[in-house]
Amino acid sequence: MAFSSSAAIVGLALALLALSGGTSAQLSKNFYSKSCPKVFDTVKSVVRSAISKERRLGASLLRLHFHDCFVNGCDGSILLDDTSSSRGEKTAGPNNNSVRGFEVIDAIKSKVEAACPGVVSCADILTIAARDSVVILGGPFWDVKLGRRDSKTASLSAANSGVIPSPSSTLSSLISTFQAQGLSAKDMVALSGAHTIGKARCISFRDHIYSDSNIDSSFAKAKQRNCPRTTGSGDNNLAILDFQTPEKFDNNYYKNLINKKGLLHSDQVLFDGGSTDSLVRQYSQNDKTFDSDFVAAMIKMGDINPLTGSKGEIRKNCRRAN
Ligand code: HEM
Ligand SMILES: *[C@@H]1O[C@H](CO)[C@@H](O)[C@H](O)[C@H]1NC(C)=O
Repeated sequence: MAFSSSAAIVGLALALLALSGGTSAQLSKNFYSKSCPKVFDTVKSVVRSAISKERRLGASLLRLHFHDCFVNGCDGSILLDDTSSSRGEKTAGPNNNSVRGFEVIDAIKSKVEAACPGVVSCADILTIAARDSVVILGGPFWDVKLGRRDSKTASLSAANSGVIPSPSSTLSSLISTFQAQGLSAKDMVALSGAHTIGKARCISFRDHIYSDSNIDSSFAKAKQRNCPRTTGSGDNNLAILDFQTPEKFDNNYYKNLINKKGLLHSDQVLFDGGSTDSLVRQYSQNDKTFDSDFVAAMIKMGDINPLTGSKGEIRKNCRRAN
């Protein structure tokens, strides 16, 4: 009697775990400790040399991981090139002429394949590279969870379906886009702090600098100089997302928002009289709180819907299925 009721409780607990934890429960920090102990040093050295040639690449790698995870989970799908029979995610609206860093992933993959052939997934390489980028640019370190496998296909339509948030989003739509991935409003505000590094194209912030009122007017004027009002002219002109320290991972992004100097509409809505104002204020005042909430949210983002066990594959080349 006692046995069967405790067995029932264990069974129930396992069922609940399966429901709530999903497949992410199978990712672990030491996944490659026997099969590829060199993976961390290998990834780090390639990321370091890429960033030393061009600082922006750190930002680009971090964003690639985000755009990978939000489209059918962190499965390396964004890395797949188009094929003759199917188009991948690279030319989807949020990605076309915008996502970058693929050559760095290729360079990492070939070194990792040389050290441990057929063992480490492209999805995991992207996860480690994103973490290393943050660290190299002065942000916090954290242990990443690993064991993701790679998708055999990519989905252009999924990447275009609105799962990746647009820079014209309202606060409530940002919150719901992240909620749809199991991430909270707090995770969303902390992850937006990634805009402490990197650049955006004029086409992504034109409306904000010409049409919005929640923007510092001298900041708007300065940005207008390299981003003409007319649609189609200067669309790809770049501006830094954090005008103070664009190559350093810090909390200046939030200080900018307090001063109405967010570059994207979707940045400034985080501090515009709404429910996330207090978090923005907190992160602007306390770099440590930002770091720890950012890390927690990155780990949650990395847990989105991974392929594990016998699902997917370990790609040999991150650009194509085996
Ligand atoms: C909250 C919703 C978000 C929106 C609406 C958004 C939107 C954007 C846009 C429009 C750009 C500029 C793209 C271009 O013009 O080419 C950008 C750049 C960037 N985003 Fe986000 N983003 C969001 C969240 C995130 C998250 C969660 C991360 C990572 C954790 C991230 C990391 C980056 C980085 C690092 C860049 C600069 C990339 C580079 O310079 O190559 N963003 N984002
Ligand atoms: C992607 O950008 C290129 C270059 O601007 C353009 O020719 C192409 O039509 C775009 N693709 C899509 C699907 O919008």
